[in-house]
Amino acid sequence: MKESVVVFTGAGVSAESGLRTFRDMGGLWHEYAIEDVASPQGWRKHPATVLRFYDERRRAVLEAQPNAAHLAIAALEAKFDVVVVTQNIDDLHERAGSTRVIHVHGEILKARSTLDPSLVYRLDKPGIALGDLCEHGSQLRPDVVWFGEDVRHMDDCREYFAAASRILTIGTSLTVYPAAGLVRFARHDSKKYFVSPEGQPLPRGFTWLKGHAAKVVPRLAEAWLSGREQL
Ligand code: APR
Repeated sequence: MKESVVVFTGAGVSAESGLRTFRDMGGLWHEYAIEDVASPQGWRKHPATVLRFYDERRRAVLEAQPNAAHLAIAALEAKFDVVVVTQNIDDLHERAGSTRVIHVHGEILKARSTLDPSLVYRLDKPGIALGDLCEHGSQLRPDVVWFGEDVRHMDDCREYFAAASRILTIGTSLTVYPAAGLVRFARHDSKKYFVSPEGQPLPRGFTWLKGHAAKVVPRLAEAWLSGREQL
């Protein structure tokens, strides 16, 4: 029976693939107002602005490549039962080879009907335009979770955290709930690690591994795959 590992990621794991984070220097929320581009209100007021915001990010995702951290996380599956719970809407974990990826904030490469949220389409072009309609004739929108909308798969994710013997959290400011609250469901006796380049309040019981994901995660994965716990 393989040991169960939850890898919980935020925008920092994709930073070295060239994708912008949100709250770092130069992050997206220093340039855009959340309510304008990532909220149902913003969508109602100016849908074209919202579509443009996600089109730009989607183009960046399509040009990006998985980095060494994504690849190392995928490599862990050789020895561990890994579930990746990600706040990210990119597909870099999947492209790196991870086979169990849960997107709690949705996926930018998918579009969904504004009439029937169960109608989700894989995008076959980089943009969604006003006038791109679902099969019932309603406007398509990015299949992502906006502020104020329901975050996905939380019950399953809480169970994965509660069952895991190792939790590896990478590149998240842990500021957006309920996703950030998942770390509280980690077992007391599980081994818990937190990868980030600078100090931030750590959830109880987590060991800080200081550094950038593309440097730290491959070293940690190599240690774990060779039977060592620590870097
Ligand atoms: N390696 C590891 N961590 C990094 C790196 C890196 N190369 N670069 C930045 N970080 C860390 C930062 O220190 C910060 O703690 O990644 C974190 C990024 O935090 P945020 O920008 O807040 O991103 P995230 O935590 O994923 O945001 C959560 O907020 O706006 C919403 O829906 C959006 O999913 C997102 C959620």
